Amino acid sequence: PTIYVLNGPNLNLLGKRQPEIYGRETLEDVELLCRDVAPGYQIRLLQSNYEGQIVDWIHEAREDACGIVINPAALTHTSVAILDALNTFEGPVIEVHISQVHKRESFRHHSYVSLRADGVIAGLGIEGYAAATRRIVSLTQ
Ligand code: DQA
Repeated sequence: PTIYVLNGPNLNLLGKRQPEIYGRETLEDVELLCRDVAPGYQIRLLQSNYEGQIVDWIHEAREDACGIVINPAALTHTSVAILDALNTFEGPVIEVHISQVHKRESFRHHSYVSLRADGVIAGLGIEGYAAATRRIVSLTQ
């Protein structure tokens, strides 16, 4: 089985971008963490700065993935298209935010994706991805 770990805009710069907020670890570190907690599963970690690309990957996940871990980044707060795409996916979806979004600007407090997510993690740093992946494993094995 395959778990998709989807990442939205600017997360390609994880480790370099505002490290005081997002830490110094990179998406490669995220991938290793996810692999570690899901033996026997394939991890497909993807990142795009484009909303439509993320929608397309969610459509691929319909055929290919048993669950989705998603950090939609800024699209969390704006994207009905990502919410609608996730609503076509039948497996578990866990939403991850590296930072504690509820402690930040009020525009980060609302998430369209939370209307679909089976779990939401915020403020655990990149460990949130491991927790989310572990949850997908326990819901699907
Ligand atoms: C984020 C929080 C979002 O508000 C922000 O736009 C991001 C990253 C996080 O992981 O903490 O780009 O999703």
